[in-house]
Amino acid sequence: MDQTILNNLLQPKSVAIVGASTQPGKIGYTVIENLLKGGYQGKIYPINPTASEILNLPVFPNISAVPGDIDLAVITVPVKLACQVIEECGQKGIKALSVITSGFSEVGRQDLEQEMLDIARHYGMRILGPNIVGTLSNSDKLNASFAPFLPFPGKATLITQSGALLIAMDAITYTRKVGFDKMISIGNMADINFADLITWLDTDDHTSCICLYIEGLKDGRRFIEASRNTKKPIIALKAGVSAHGAAAAASHTGSLAGAVKVYGAAFQQAGVVQASDLNNLFDRTLALSLQPPLRKENLLIITNGGGVGVLATDAAERYGIPLKFAPEDVQSELKKHMPDYGSAKNPVDLTGMAGNDWYYKSVKFAFAHPWTDGLVVLYCETAITNPVEIAQAVKKAIDDSGVKDRPVVVSMVGGTRCDEAMQWLVENGIPAYPTPDQAMNSMAALREYNNIRLMNTGEVESCGPKSSRIAREIIAKARADGRSSLTEIEAKKVFAAYRLPVAETNLSRSEEEAVELATKTGFPIVMKVVSPDIIHKSDAGGVKVNIKDEAGIRSAYQAILKSCKTYKPDADIRGIAVQEMAPLGTEVIVGSINDPTFGPTIMFGLGGIFVEVLKDVTFRVAPVNKELVRQMINEIHSVAILAGARGESPRDRAALEDLLCRYAGMVYDLCDEVAETDANPVLVYGEGEGLKVVDARIILKKK
Ligand code: ACO
Repeated sequence: MDQTILNNLLQPKSVAIVGASTQPGKIGYTVIENLLKGGYQGKIYPINPTASEILNLPVFPNISAVPGDIDLAVITVPVKLACQVIEECGQKGIKALSVITSGFSEVGRQDLEQEMLDIARHYGMRILGPNIVGTLSNSDKLNASFAPFLPFPGKATLITQSGALLIAMDAITYTRKVGFDKMISIGNMADINFADLITWLDTDDHTSCICLYIEGLKDGRRFIEASRNTKKPIIALKAGVSAHGAAAAASHTGSLAGAVKVYGAAFQQAGVVQASDLNNLFDRTLALSLQPPLRKENLLIITNGGGVGVLATDAAERYGIPLKFAPEDVQSELKKHMPDYGSAKNPVDLTGMAGNDWYYKSVKFAFAHPWTDGLVVLYCETAITNPVEIAQAVKKAIDDSGVKDRPVVVSMVGGTRCDEAMQWLVENGIPAYPTPDQAMNSMAALREYNNIRLMNTGEVESCGPKSSRIAREIIAKARADGRSSLTEIEAKKVFAAYRLPVAETNLSRSEEEAVELATKTGFPIVMKVVSPDIIHKSDAGGVKVNIKDEAGIRSAYQAILKSCKTYKPDADIRGIAVQEMAPLGTEVIVGSINDPTFGPTIMFGLGGIFVEVLKDVTFRVAPVNKELVRQMINEIHSVAILAGARGESPRDRAALEDLLCRYAGMVYDLCDEVAETDANPVLVYGEGEGLKVVDARIILKKK
């Protein structure tokens, strides 16, 4: 995209309001009023066919009557007039449009949205919205919106899909003192999307942190790419995580994939830090916009109260920050600034006796010490200290330490005097919070930002054309057969084409053939029903294991047919699979879905028949590299099992990593054909002994 068009949108030298109103209270009036109130220095052109003057500004009857160029047109006419005025904007040569008007795709009028988009494309225009509040920018004194005022100034920029939330957050910036330079309402995202804005904001000198409120992304992969390429921290609050993926799924993976997990995985891969709710979004934005990341692990807590110190320690554990005692030299120096009954370990407890001087000396020394990677300063309001003076002492200590590349956050627990002190700190660049938990959570955000940015974005596994050709032939045959899923044997052939180690499996159509195949494979064997109508074979009594001889084969053959016919009388039974019986191993599941937002996405977790109960699974958007799959494996709660639990030798993680990379390569390659897949269970053996995919499922995309 031509980035200069976003300059027109976000830093316009002139703004036309098409649908300017003479009536106070109307949006077409409020936008002009806001531009004037905000102190906008560019030219303002109200457009209205009948009015002559609005708020002392001359009014133009139409856009072509305006002399000279216009950078941005803000559209505030009703929806029925929108396309007509947008056409006129195109003829005038305007390149950026901010369409506040509602009544498009959000109410089912995709046709109108498309018509508007077609006009914009024809004239090379870019559209923000429609259905938005507008744009706000402190650095340009631009309030081209109907939000009441420019936000509390600062260096974060908000992009939000909810316009109402923009207005609410705008007001909260003043109560929370979290500073924003820009607030952008993105609405229906007919054209300009999150990725476009993130890319532009990366080069915006006035933005140090990008803050997102997301309901649903349209182009998940572009979002990941744009975010990953950004040098600035991005924090996202994702709303609407409960219903997504709730639709009936035919695979284990499909039933386990929810927006929380898939978006969570995508945010990880995009290097985006997450917020858990609106308050947390403000807390974390404050830290990310004011402080550098926590680059290493040595975090020191300095407090005047044991209680808040313990609360901060608990919070550190909750948010995954390891705490260590400070080294001896740090402890002995800090002991000079506390009474005998203080503690110089970690938390460093200066005790309730601590005044400005002790805070100053201990903070300055500790922050400057090479051991310290980050600092959390806590203060409990006392009768013998003045919170504002403590805040000033902390700030001076930080400045005098000369350190600029390590983070510090503060929590001041108390009443209005603490509020005043914290406001002073925030205005002076130090994030401050009313509770130790919020302070530690924000420090955790600085750590998470560092860690996800460090993530190796190394090479992904690519598949050869031969694998693809074999797989596509198998899929084409199944489609020609009118089927929407592959049989287990077909699915295993597809897996094998991508060099996934599958248990040898062959189809028998009679007892005799089963005996013959088993003799070739070697006993013991497993027998399983093959039917496109029976997805969950065990439930149908369609699986018999550990069959040791010919008699066993014959009785299993009959037993499977009988119970499957009882389970589903009209099932199309294609035969019985005869499969090598893989030795016991640790059962894991690997699977995939084709997520509507992010496309092919793989899942890994503890597998077997209890997978849906345990839900110990994790996701990544395919394709993936080794670093990503290592993270996936480490993320499951039961990861210790792979290290060799209860006397077992450690499992073959290297083979598992290979499998996950290849699996992701396979589903990425076949994403135009394949909807969902499962390899469950995959049996993982001891180190160097590899693994085996015992069961395979591939469900095709509807075409
Ligand atoms: N060119 C320019 N101006 C024109 C034209 C034209 N061709 N034709 C009419 N106008 C003028 C009108 O005369 C009127 O001015 P007036 O009040 O002086 O007569 C002005 O444009 C506005 O037109 P109205 O018909 O009065 O429209 P109204 O202001 O009632 O509504 C609006 C327009 C605000 C765009 C409305 O249709 C709308 O979409 N509202 C929703 C906006 C919104 O909520 N956006 C999403 C935010 S997200 C959230 O949830 C908060």
